[in-house]
Amino acid sequence: MKRSTLAALSLAIATTLGAGLAAADPIVIKFAHVVAENTPKGLMADRFKELVAERLGDKVVVEVYPNSQLFGDDKVLEAMQLGDVQLAAPALSKFSRYTDVLALYDLPFLFEDLHAVDRFQQSEAGQGLLRSMEKKGLIGLGYLHNGMKQLSSSQPLRVPEDAKGLKFRIMASEVLEAQFEALDAAPIKKPFSEVFTLLQTKAIDGQENTWSNMYSKKFFEVQPYITESNHGLLDYLVVTSTEFWNGLPDDVRDTLKAALDESIAYGNRIAYDKEAEDRQAIIDSKRTEVIELTPEERAQWVQAMRPVWKQFEDEIGADLIDAAYAANQE
Ligand code: LMR
Repeated sequence: MKRSTLAALSLAIATTLGAGLAAADPIVIKFAHVVAENTPKGLMADRFKELVAERLGDKVVVEVYPNSQLFGDDKVLEAMQLGDVQLAAPALSKFSRYTDVLALYDLPFLFEDLHAVDRFQQSEAGQGLLRSMEKKGLIGLGYLHNGMKQLSSSQPLRVPEDAKGLKFRIMASEVLEAQFEALDAAPIKKPFSEVFTLLQTKAIDGQENTWSNMYSKKFFEVQPYITESNHGLLDYLVVTSTEFWNGLPDDVRDTLKAALDESIAYGNRIAYDKEAEDRQAIIDSKRTEVIELTPEERAQWVQAMRPVWKQFEDEIGADLIDAAYAANQE
């Protein structure tokens, strides 16, 4: 081959390769969630997107889809297994199709506050639960808080009998179903995106959620009473698919994990603040009456709901329940 032909050929190859590299598509991480942007999860997702843009430039692009825009929590995990979404943070209550043990977090009156939740989640037992779904193709990358749940209703709820016969929306969890059945109430499993309309049209009487979700989704505008029960926990598992995660180049995965850890820590700090701030904002709105329970009234709710633990003890494991409950003691 003539030298000039060879040179032309090398140039052509180099140009093609160069063009190929320049056009190499960045890895796209779709992060789908169901809550508003101004919530612990919404702000955590946005922080993650910013950190990844700073640190991985054009190698990885994070797209955040809030407010159930891309998938509701009833579909997102299947979509993740199919590769249609890469990151989500559904409530721990929404994994019952994949594992029994995460139902632990739904047991009523298990944790006194978010500090106890932190202590348990950082323990070996708590960290072990992150890997409980690997055989199903899902990996938990970390826990994210929202807060303690309160009961909202069309009727004032002071003692468990007040809930009798009322219809409450719940997340898709058997423990939560049993919890309302223990009150002789009627639990109805519905996606988060439908709750406001169900309350507004009075198709249901009440629901349980955090101050942050009730504030950001305006549930307090269509519920005349909120009982400050702190009876349960709403926490999230930041989750991805094993196939996606293990298929990433090592350096990219490490950088993503560090960015996730930082954004989760940021979201968790916001969760602590929002428990107080959004509660106050709801009280200040004067759209709803916030009912504070006396210790005697609260004890009645504990007594009514606590038998649910026994019902799920075999599935969850008595040792795990004991370990979680022990985290209430510092
Ligand atoms: C709910 O469905 O009530 C919550 O899981 C929504 C959320 O993600 O906080």
